[in-house]
Amino acid sequence: MSFQIIKGDITTWAADAIVNAANTSLLGGGGVDGAIHRAAGPELLKECRTLHGCETGRAKITAGYNLPARHVIHTPGPIWRGGHQNEPALLASCYRSCLRLAEENRCRTVAFPSISTGVYRFPLERAAAIAVEEILAFLERSKVVCEVTMVCFDDKTKTAYDAALTRKESSRSR
Ligand code: APR
Repeated sequence: MSFQIIKGDITTWAADAIVNAANTSLLGGGGVDGAIHRAAGPELLKECRTLHGCETGRAKITAGYNLPARHVIHTPGPIWRGGHQNEPALLASCYRSCLRLAEENRCRTVAFPSISTGVYRFPLERAAAIAVEEILAFLERSKVVCEVTMVCFDDKTKTAYDAALTRKESSRSR
């Protein structure tokens, strides 16, 4: 069971499944959503149209098409509205829903972007702590998923996730 944090472009990552920080329409957008759709090609949007959207905090799976990844798991993260509209719980639910769906689809390796910390403006440090907590908890009990990678697009994001993992590991060793 391994969890690694790297800096890179998730569209180049050959995991069994990569996660897309989507919106509830599942019909594409900017940021990592736009990058994944561009790299996957038009067939991805065609399949997404058959899914009829997705609720915030839930997840839906498609094929990866021209991506090196076999699947794309689409999850709409919460838009940050100050933290009193269930945003932390909804973000945690994104990670759990994606990992559960990966397990159900026999994906052994999964890669995440930093969900909701771009356009959706979720505070990066808080999002990183939630992601690390949910991923490590899932890996402890997972029967299929054996490797999770957090693919950070820039140094600031990678530093935040590295710090969140260090904090989590030191709290465990106490
Ligand atoms: N690989 C990995 N991470 C990426 C990539 C990439 N190619 N491109 C962007 N990112 C990072 C961003 O730098 C940020 O850290 O993904 C993280 C999430 O940012 P967004 O893509 O803006 O996603 P989010 O904040 O969840 O907002 C989702 O934006 O693109 C629209 O359709 C999307 O409406 C939805 C909203």
